[in-house]
Amino acid sequence: MNAPVRIEVRDLRLAYGTREALHGVSFDVHAHEILGIIGPAQAGKTSLLRCLNRTIDFTADARMTGSVKVDGVDVRQVKDVFGLRRKIGMVAPLPVGLPLSIYDNVAFAPRCAGLRRRDELEALVERCLRQAALWDEVKDRLHTLGTRLSGGQQQRLTIARALSHQPEILCLDEFSIAIDPVTTMRIEEVLKELRRTVTILLVTNLTQQARRLADRTLFLWKGELVELDRTEVIFSEHPRERRTYEYVNGMVG
Ligand SMILES: Nc1ncnc2c1ncn2[C@@H]1O[C@H](COP(=O)(O)OP(=O)(O)OP(=O)(O)O)[C@@H](O)[C@H]1O
Ligand SMILES: [Mg+2]
Repeated sequence: MNAPVRIEVRDLRLAYGTREALHGVSFDVHAHEILGIIGPAQAGKTSLLRCLNRTIDFTADARMTGSVKVDGVDVRQVKDVFGLRRKIGMVAPLPVGLPLSIYDNVAFAPRCAGLRRRDELEALVERCLRQAALWDEVKDRLHTLGTRLSGGQQQRLTIARALSHQPEILCLDEFSIAIDPVTTMRIEEVLKELRRTVTILLVTNLTQQARRLADRTLFLWKGELVELDRTEVIFSEHPRERRTYEYVNGMVG
């Protein structure tokens, strides 16, 4: 792969207290790829994402060793942690609605970043809501509370909000848990388009979602990276590891 490396993870270990959740994980993420991250519950998928933008700092007893570099800079040396988190956006599995209007949920971050012109702000809000496949459902009630939306709509609002930061790298953690299949497909189409400008890490329990979307897929198992390869290899009859074959074919989980 010739695209530049955006994220370089080397021998990453993460412990919560005395329990290690990631046991020395190494991989690269290239610009403009969609990297699928699959693995059963408790494999360490969410923990891995949280190390990348240092949201792991919020867990007091979490200890990280090894190195994670973003654009060549070790994330633990980063002074501007907020800047790092703007660069690496995160969408959590369940919607986290701010108690604000739909419009303000999306306009919040750009306003904080200094965007004041109303026409520009409106255009950005519309673009993010369209990208999150929510615009048509909310365009006539942008000034009602975001928390009044249905679960699936709130999840899409969370995606719109993540996009409003204009992240260079977007981590999606099981974004479609609360979203119906048709809407999920629409967002998947958006992600494919976004890849032109954004690098995407897609954590999913739905192995078929990784198969549809990811350029490469990483299989994590009990805190260990079992295999990382082009998605067609991971889902073929002959991935390198037998465990990979068994997992993606539903024989273990
Ligand atoms: N804040 C925390 N404090 C202590 N242990 C944690 C914490 N978060 C996660 N863990 C532990 O770390 C391990 C990996 O959890 P993680 O949430 O990263 O897995 P996951 O692959 O995202 O699972 P799921 O598919 O259920 O979301 C688990 O054993 C979990 O109990
Ligand atoms: Mg998780």
